Amino acid sequence: DTDTPVSAFESSLVLVSNRQPYSHRYEDDEIVVDRPVGGLTAGLDPVMQQVDGTWIAWGDGDADAEVTDDNDCVRVPPEDPSYTLRRVWLSDEAVDEYYYGYSNQVLWPLCHDLVGKTNFEDRFWSRYQEVNEQFADAVVEQADEESVVWFQDYHLALAPSHAREALPETTLFQFWHIPWPTWDTFRVCPHREELLGGLLANDLIGFHTERYVENFLACVDACFEAATVDTDSGEVEYDGETTLVRAFPLGVDAERIGELAGEREETFWPEFKREYSIPDDSRVAVGVDRLDYTKGIPERLDALEELFETRPEWRERLTYVQKSTESRSDISEYQRLQSAVDERIERLNERFATESWRPVVRIEEHLTNPELYGLYAHSDLALVTPVRDGMNLVAKEYVAAQADDDTKDGVLVLSRMTGAHGELGDTAVTIEPYDAPELAGQIEEALTMPDHERKRRMDALRASVLENDLDTWLASLLGTVQGLRRMSTQDTDD
Ligand code: F6P
Repeated sequence: DTDTPVSAFESSLVLVSNRQPYSHRYEDDEIVVDRPVGGLTAGLDPVMQQVDGTWIAWGDGDADAEVTDDNDCVRVPPEDPSYTLRRVWLSDEAVDEYYYGYSNQVLWPLCHDLVGKTNFEDRFWSRYQEVNEQFADAVVEQADEESVVWFQDYHLALAPSHAREALPETTLFQFWHIPWPTWDTFRVCPHREELLGGLLANDLIGFHTERYVENFLACVDACFEAATVDTDSGEVEYDGETTLVRAFPLGVDAERIGELAGEREETFWPEFKREYSIPDDSRVAVGVDRLDYTKGIPERLDALEELFETRPEWRERLTYVQKSTESRSDISEYQRLQSAVDERIERLNERFATESWRPVVRIEEHLTNPELYGLYAHSDLALVTPVRDGMNLVAKEYVAAQADDDTKDGVLVLSRMTGAHGELGDTAVTIEPYDAPELAGQIEEALTMPDHERKRRMDALRASVLENDLDTWLASLLGTVQGLRRMSTQDTDD
């Protein structure tokens, strides 16, 4: 889309993230390429294809080194090379301590306000510092003063300050994809000053919601006496640098999702129901999640158990389809979660299944995008029930997949604890994730909602998701960056 300011960046854009968009691995003796199927990398890959910049990320594939040049770079996508992917190589110990350790056992639970799940081991912190320097070194080698460097997420809070030392004139910015907690939570972290100082080396820091911006500014204010914080403009002055802090709610490529959802309109749904033995007259509720304790999956299953127990008329008339993707399984909290989910699904199916019906259908295999969006399009409800979530794009994808057709509108059941609730909360069915009996009642309410009310709500949700889509997010974020550029192309030409 040439209307977005993406084109203004051309090859000067250097994107830095933990995950890479293309991963090469051996399958027998062949090298195969794994592509992004969702999340941050899938959303940003088309942006990089438009500008031919450089993406710096951890090379996590066992064949990545095989396909790189002397500068650790490879051109991607393989079939139509249009930008450069540069790898940062990490040892197994580094992955264990920086990714599984500090990133996902300290920052992840801390920012999701789950302090009881944090694990502050010294070796995690040392390694996080070391790996952030490694990423910053790659940035310094790759970037010059005209570059615009875009750091992603909580894995890289310290990299901006290291990069800034060598690149005083380069525009640096960061998008934080998870929540930012209150000062009362963040002050628990012994490394709070270093983390905030690292981030404040950026010219711009973006969050999903105003609340996270407020929390971040309050943390800076409380942590650094020397900082000047203007809460109205979102500007922070600290250590000789000015940083703008703003909310940019991430959206999805709503139009494309709608097209893909309708791709196999005639055949998809009957085939899908046959494959998973879902009776024809059963309503379908869907849940799609990475297996993470923030997503509220056990809580959701408890509510379904409550529903089938207290309102037996829904047995055989409602099927819950759970599509979950295994995640961060080296961490014991995630292993515990997986067992908790397994146990609940087994119990529900043992207690209530009949000869022709199972209350919970679990999908383990990969679904292509048209299959996933087709599942959304035909499901009567989406259950999005996180206990805390920075944004939650499943909620937006579900809405985007609903065909604009009165007979097919679904209902979005959405937790108050998601970033998406700020935009969609007025017209979704709002739930409190921890209250199983209440949630059971709300699921029933969603199932029995009159047609005109379903349509009214879905029309409003659709309008919001289409308007605040991925392009809107990019235009607003990159437009702001363009206004802050330290070294504009104009100046250089003079
Ligand atoms: O929600 C934060 C996030 O980093 C996403 O940007 C990403 O898609 C997801 O978590 C996956 O996490 P991981 O890289 O640990 O698999």
